[in-house]
Amino acid sequence: MTALDEIAIGGLGASRRRVEDARFVRGRGHYVDDIHLPGMLHMEILRSPLAHARIKAIDTSRAWEIPGVRLVLTGEMMAQRNLAWMPTLSYDTQAVLATDKVRFQGQEVCVVVADDPYIAKDGCEAIVVEYEALPAIVNPEQAAAPDAPIIRDDKDGQTDNTCYRWEVGDAAATERAFAQADVVSSLKLHYPRSHPSPIECCGSIADYDAGTGKLTVYMTTQAPHIIRAAVALVAELPEHMIRIVSPDIGGGFGNKVPVYPGYVASILASILLGKPVKWIEDKSGNLSSTGFGRDMYLDAQMALRSDGKILAVRMHADTDQGAFFADAQPSKFKIGLLHSAFACYDVPVGHITAQGHYTNKAPGGVAYRCSFRVTEAMFFQERMVAAAAADLGIDAAEIRRRNLLSDDQFPHRTAFGFLVDSGQYHKCLELGLDAIGYEEFKRDQAAARERGRLLGIGISTMTEPLGAGNSREYDILGIKMFDSAELRVHMTGKAILRTGAKTQGQGHETTWAQIVSHELGIPADDVVVEEGDTDTAPFGMGTYASRSTPVAGAAVAMVARKVRAKARKLAAHLLEVSEEDVEWELGRFYVRGAPERGATIQECAAAAYSNMPDGMEPGLENNAYYDPPNLTWPFAVYIATVEVDPETGVWDVLRVVAVDDCGVRINPMIVEGQIMGGLTEAYAMANMQFQTYDADGNQVGSNYMDYLLPTAWETPGFELHEVVTPCPHHPIGAKGVGECAAVGGPAAFVNAVHDALAATGVRNIDMPVLPDRVWQAMQDGRDVSGAPPVRSDS
Ligand code: CDP
Repeated sequence: MTALDEIAIGGLGASRRRVEDARFVRGRGHYVDDIHLPGMLHMEILRSPLAHARIKAIDTSRAWEIPGVRLVLTGEMMAQRNLAWMPTLSYDTQAVLATDKVRFQGQEVCVVVADDPYIAKDGCEAIVVEYEALPAIVNPEQAAAPDAPIIRDDKDGQTDNTCYRWEVGDAAATERAFAQADVVSSLKLHYPRSHPSPIECCGSIADYDAGTGKLTVYMTTQAPHIIRAAVALVAELPEHMIRIVSPDIGGGFGNKVPVYPGYVASILASILLGKPVKWIEDKSGNLSSTGFGRDMYLDAQMALRSDGKILAVRMHADTDQGAFFADAQPSKFKIGLLHSAFACYDVPVGHITAQGHYTNKAPGGVAYRCSFRVTEAMFFQERMVAAAAADLGIDAAEIRRRNLLSDDQFPHRTAFGFLVDSGQYHKCLELGLDAIGYEEFKRDQAAARERGRLLGIGISTMTEPLGAGNSREYDILGIKMFDSAELRVHMTGKAILRTGAKTQGQGHETTWAQIVSHELGIPADDVVVEEGDTDTAPFGMGTYASRSTPVAGAAVAMVARKVRAKARKLAAHLLEVSEEDVEWELGRFYVRGAPERGATIQECAAAAYSNMPDGMEPGLENNAYYDPPNLTWPFAVYIATVEVDPETGVWDVLRVVAVDDCGVRINPMIVEGQIMGGLTEAYAMANMQFQTYDADGNQVGSNYMDYLLPTAWETPGFELHEVVTPCPHHPIGAKGVGECAAVGGPAAFVNAVHDALAATGVRNIDMPVLPDRVWQAMQDGRDVSGAPPVRSDS
């Protein structure tokens, strides 16, 4: 017998087909809305039509009269139970149902529970709410005006619309570096508000069993254990009597991290009625009231030497948080990991200030497919580098060569305190430039320009800090960020693995089994993976910020190693040698010096239940809690080429090249799928997606006719390349990857359009780079801001 072929058993590096797809593509997924419980009732939400208004009266009498209506809940009724407000994951409060005022269009005002969802909807329409309209605030500039109405007058001591102030870096040293600069390059940007828009909306079924006192909630959450803790705190129920089950999830992208009023209201309704209560949000509800991303204004300067060396950066960010600061950021970092900007460059010093503003919009700031505001950080970084190159007349690839960290600079402490531990940035850049044919394109571009054709090439180089914790630095509401895995090997050598993460389409059922296979030699098909049930899964912080592979994936490797350590003892017993004389090769232990004498992992598993040595605890199982020593630092280079139509401003993508280094790839096919998905969203952000609000706070783009999601038809093709720099501290050398392309991709497209317009003197067109904005910029030879008051939808 010899070691197993790792690829054949579906181990590390195998492009194993996604096991979960067998049910998804056959329509056999099991989502919240697929669950039907006996006696189940249905809940609908009445939402505010106004962005800012005082509630004068609510008359629910006609709703109660509708046959089939079982319960109508108002904010006042919630307040009687101390449930009108709930804590958010960012130490703020959020109205569950409005009592005093409504603070954004679409805010939850009442809920109706009825025999079916249609009756519940009729009940909502029968409710009469009398509002007194107040002036609406729709951007940070208005929010900060001295005479602005105070949106959060519910909060003691709140005298303005500031939600937080935060700073990092060394202001004085940055000033000194700017004084030494040959050139100071400045840029102002708006990263528009966007929405993660998962295919499945949010929803819950609360099932309170008055007999046992146990509350079970089936819900669309990316972080079931955090929700259990939040429910215990908000509803004051004992945590061991709460079971959160997150079944199949049809996409999350950060949208399913926050706690939403619908979840809380359905729980109270179930407790009051003693029946299961289902709430399934409709598309408009999801698109108007649940976690938005971005909406950040940046004002930044970069100090440079004339040869292109970056000396310092200074950034100020104003964020539009909406009416409640409800997203999840690690407690220490009010504006997420914005300070990861410039982490891949050798920037000696910098200073970032940030101010969060309350506005009359739905809560914003969720990490839409990114690690806590890293998308904004990397976009600002890459737009600033492109602008600096243009200001200095240095080629866009060359300025990166002069500033990217070189291989011998790792580990590198950034100006903002991160420790970037590994990478081969120059190799990735050169690979990308070769793949796109950079020099040749530049020649073609010059020739095309002679003929009036506008070709452009855009580069984006980025690193993303993925995998929070470590627990010293990262917590949410004081709960430390680590993760967990539990592995149980049955008597026949088949196994069940559970983790504290929660897949939403990323393929954990496939890849976690591959890690077990790599560590134990059990074929991946013999390992079933379960996530999302707090009664069975070990405690974990859930899946967002591409933290699963860096943290839960590491826990999977560690628990498999613990199991292997016990299996070694069993092998020694079976082989009748001492443990020190037992060697391991994939799938089996053997006697040192006598390799023909061995015991397979399956034989060890059988022995754990039927033939263990005297005194050994039976069974073959364990668990592991993993607290990573550092974040993981994947790196990527995205390069796009475009052609802009000088007559209309329409731009078409010619080619997109991606070079991703996410360390060791567990499943190369899944990694490529993640990168293609991310690039698709990047293209959408650059080209078509944004949410705006009119002066009264009415949401423009609250439907999928106005808010555009790219389909296969308009999405360009992507050419993918790979570099592997193993993560030095991850047990299998992996780094996260799920979000990299969505984070780094937008700047490649936007830089390409600006490159095409280089001769016009236009330095910045805000995203989305719509044809009318491009056309306007070409007509006037000036920048086009997407920030109010200039809006392309007006
Ligand atoms: O946290 P999330 O699952 O969204 O992101 P991730 O950890 O980056 O993983 C996304 C998917 O890619 C998972 O199925 C991972 O196991 C897989 N992956 C991989 O195969 N190799 C890597 N080096 C990183 C992720």
